[in-house]
Formats: sequence, structure tokens, C-alpha cells
Amino acid sequence: MHSPERRVAVDAARAAGHLLRKELDGVRRITYKGSPTNLVTEMDARCEALIVDRLRGTFAGDAILAEETGTTPGRSGRRWIVDPLDGTTNYAHGLPIFAVSIALEVERHVVLGVVYDPTRDELFVAERGHGATVNDGALTVSDTATLDESLLATGFPYNIRETRANLAEFTAFTLRSRAVRRLGSAVLYCAWVAAGRFDGYWEQTTGPWDVAAGSLLIEEAGGRVTDLVGKPLDLDKPAIVASNGKIHDAMLGVLEEVRRR
Ligand code: IPD
Ligand code: CA
Ligand code: CA
Repeated sequence: MHSPERRVAVDAARAAGHLLRKELDGVRRITYKGSPTNLVTEMDARCEALIVDRLRGTFAGDAILAEETGTTPGRSGRRWIVDPLDGTTNYAHGLPIFAVSIALEVERHVVLGVVYDPTRDELFVAERGHGATVNDGALTVSDTATLDESLLATGFPYNIRETRANLAEFTAFTLRSRAVRRLGSAVLYCAWVAAGRFDGYWEQTTGPWDVAAGSLLIEEAGGRVTDLVGKPLDLDKPAIVASNGKIHDAMLGVLEEVRRR
């Protein structure tokens, strides 16, 4: 019998995901958050409202951090972290690579992570200390031992036109790995590292909602998650290196090498 937290989070993620899938081919109302590459659609807001209503309806004392509406304070010491639509740019273009992410933090530790990918109807769930699953089957990271044989993923920040951030790193990893994919969903990168489909993922600037659930999926699937220099992931300012563990030090080494140039 699953906990009420898990049941509510799973139901909310599925409901938001089904709504996203149903509306994928509709006409989008796109607005921009500060830069011409940072899109938001009416579906981000609709899904966030749906999820936040369900969480608040059952767990009224908990804080919520949701990407589009920010922080709702609580008094329980628990915080839900919600990305109602990860992969907004893909979604706005009708590209079916996006997901819903809901995490629960207790005393600043993520204890529950739920990711739903409506396109593939894949539900990823992790509970701290109890492993991670996809559609109820156990999740395990890959056993790829070298960077040379690895398939990696990365993302670029929305202010890339000003910063040119991550381009040097992208080049370095492209020359060292089997390939680097850039698919536009941090949440799915994490879920797919946990599933062994990617061997590693790094990104220099993400939001807490991009990696909260996914980092627990990876750890519970036997992988490793750190910041860019090998320290614990800081959800208040997440920069992430996530991997199957075996290639982690090699990934940190490439980042270090680029920093030293
Ligand atoms: C973004 C996507 C993208 C990643 C960005 C995220 P959004 O989330 O996950 O792949 O590179 O860092 O902000 O805006 O689509 O929810
Ligand atoms: Ca996101
Ligand atoms: Ca989002």
C-alpha cells in the first residue's frame, strides 16, 4: 500500500500529463519570461494549477515551490517542488519530448520523486531508501565504464545569447563521448540516466524543479548526482552532473579541464 503522498503526486502528475498529451496539437498561447528563448505557454499555467490544487487540497500545511507561481509557504517542514511542464519549448513546437515532475522534500532532503512522460506513458517513481521504478519495474543505471562509450545529455541556459555558456563544455564532451544529445527536457534527462538510457547528464544552470525528482530517481537507481565540482547538489542553485557513477569522475575531469583553459 503506497503512502498518500505518493498516491496524490502520482495522480496529479498523470492528470497533468494526460492534459498535456490531449492538447499537444492545439494552438499555443506563447509568452516570454525575460528572454526571447524562455517560453511559457498557457499549458504550463493550467497544469501547474491542477497539480498545486491537488497538493494543497490534501496537504494544506506543506510549502510548495512551483516554477510558474513560485513559493506558497507552509508550516510542516515539508516542501513540494513542481515542474508542471518540463520541455516547454518542445511542447510549444508540438515536439513530443516533455514531462511533468513532482518532488517532496522533508527537512531539505528529497524523499519522493515522481516523473510522468505522457508520450511514452512512462511513470518514474523513487522513494528515498526504497529504490526507483518505471511503470513498476526496477530502474537501474547503465554499467558503461568509460566516457568514450557513453551517451550523454546536456542543456543550455536561456540567456545563452549573452553568455555563450556551456558551448566549450559541449565541444569537449562531444569529442570525448560516443555522442551528446540536446533534447530539451532536464527532467527526462534525469529519468533516462536513472533508466540507463543515458550514461550521464550535465547542465550548468537549472531550476530546483528541473532536477529535484530526477536526482532522487538517479540516486535510487544506483547512480551519482553532484554539482559541477563534485560537491552535493544544491537545490537552491542547482548545477548538475548526474551519471551512472562509473563515468562521474571522468565527467568532472572534463569540466575541470575546460575551466582551466
Ligand atoms: C528547461 C528544460 C531544458 C533545460 C532548461 C530547463 P522548462 O525546462 O528542461 O531542457 O535545458 O534548463 O529550464 O523551461 O522547459 O520547464
Ligand atoms: Ca523545467
Ligand atoms: Ca517548466
